[in-house]
Amino acid sequence: MVERAIDKKGVLRVPRPLQQLYKDILMDHARRPRNAGSLERPDLQASVVNPLCGDELSVYVTLKGEKIQEVRFRVRGCAIATASASMLSEQIKGLTLAEVLGMERGFQEAIAKREAALPEELEPLEPLLSVRDYPHRQSCARLPWDALRALEK
Ligand code: FES
Repeated sequence: MVERAIDKKGVLRVPRPLQQLYKDILMDHARRPRNAGSLERPDLQASVVNPLCGDELSVYVTLKGEKIQEVRFRVRGCAIATASASMLSEQIKGLTLAEVLGMERGFQEAIAKREAALPEELEPLEPLLSVRDYPHRQSCARLPWDALRALEK
């Protein structure tokens, strides 16, 4: 098992073997996105555009009561946006939209700041933290969250 280490400044350092594993996970989600496509009769749907590149992402959700029953993302964008939507889709079924959006701030901070950790419920999204080194790609990772937020309107 590969261990992660916290340095003296409290910054999480990811050893190279783990970096490669994260890269492999990201590429797997980008090539074979989970919950990709649309739903025939969604209760909610929204589309957003990344203003930095013009790429589009749509989300379709069916609800059971307040809880997300099914979710699909249709991404016309880069590998990071596709992987982010795929990984997020695996974490949000059974939660309310409010519960999901309640984790958004933690995600935003974690992808932007080395000293911030992901909320526990989002730890499977840890491979996305590689965008910390590429600030212009953070908007790609955030795009599915932007779409979920747009569902509220
Ligand atoms: Fe457009 Fe990533 S480059 S969403």
